[in-house]
Amino acid sequence: MSIDMYQENILDHYENPQNFGHLDSCDVKAHDSNPLCGDTFDFELKFKDGKIDDVKFSGHGCAISTASASMLTEKIKSLPIEEVKKLEQKDILELLGIELSHVRIKCAMLPLKVVKLGVYEYLDKSKK
Ligand code: FES
Repeated sequence: MSIDMYQENILDHYENPQNFGHLDSCDVKAHDSNPLCGDTFDFELKFKDGKIDDVKFSGHGCAISTASASMLTEKIKSLPIEEVKKLEQKDILELLGIELSHVRIKCAMLPLKVVKLGVYEYLDKSKK
């Protein structure tokens, strides 16, 4: 895809985010915000057989953070927990497909941070 197409894709996800809303029931809810701007995201996660069974998110952010959240929900649905734990900055930048400044990288990474909080909370709860 060309840069223009990536930018268009980001805008599409921003204007029409996938998996936005709430699950009927979930195993964990996780929340965090970007201290630089105050934007916040909440993720609801449901797990089954060591995988993410379902995910929805809510909250508000800029185009980059919202697109990142939307793309991330598509990527992690049905993904094994172990794979989700391994996701890192380069995976998110690959999904977005454009170069980002340091400040914008914080926007892009916020959703993954929240998902990981949820995953670790679930793993913690499952141990008890
Ligand atoms: Fe707030 Fe991007 S400006 S998350």
